Amino acid sequence: MRIDVVSIFPEFFDVLEVSLLGKARGRGILDIRVHDLRAHTHDRHRTVDDTPYGGGAGMVMKPEPWGDVLDEVATDAASRPIFVFPSPAGERFTQATARELSSAPHLVFGCGRYEGIDERVFAYAATLGDVRLVSLGDYVLNGGEVAAMAMIEAIGRLVPGVVGNPESLVEESHEDGLLEYPSYTKPASWRGYDVPEILRSGDHGKVAQWRRGQQLERTRERRPDLLPD
Ligand code: ADE
Repeated sequence: MRIDVVSIFPEFFDVLEVSLLGKARGRGILDIRVHDLRAHTHDRHRTVDDTPYGGGAGMVMKPEPWGDVLDEVATDAASRPIFVFPSPAGERFTQATARELSSAPHLVFGCGRYEGIDERVFAYAATLGDVRLVSLGDYVLNGGEVAAMAMIEAIGRLVPGVVGNPESLVEESHEDGLLEYPSYTKPASWRGYDVPEILRSGDHGKVAQWRRGQQLERTRERRPDLLPD
């Protein structure tokens, strides 16, 4: 999978060199390219923003540098990319979104700052590929960078070959619509806390039943919104 990231803070994405995603890059499974939006400005001050038409607080990102960089990332791709613009005004990002995007051959993350990006950029991007405005949650970050990082990790780990043992992707929170069951490892007793007896019984059927019960109980308690009415 190819992932392009556009940002005025490319250094935010240096952490993509470490851990599982870093290894996947090294092995050629993920081809991640980070672009500095300011490299696509043509004035002495490398201006990327301006005041909003109609007035109001804050600044809006100018369309011209975005147009240039989107042209650059889209032209040498064989297929039309999916453009993901992190935005608190977007559709909600979920595990289902991550799974869907993990099968795309080419994603482009466009990270806005300030009050956002000139709306015409989304219309132009739609001529080059699919466009998704995606929100991490109902809160406001200073820009799209942290949201893009979270999405890239959630998507990237679902790309075949990135996580060594694909089994570990099956039994985790949100994959079956429920929260994950609790996990324990050795020692069996630690500072007065014991591992539930059933997990040490060796009875796989009973263990599976207990885990399912835990998933339901946790979900009911912490995230009742995930359960059907
Ligand atoms: N940019 C600013 N806030 C955001 C959010 N909640 N999700 C995605 N992108 C954002």
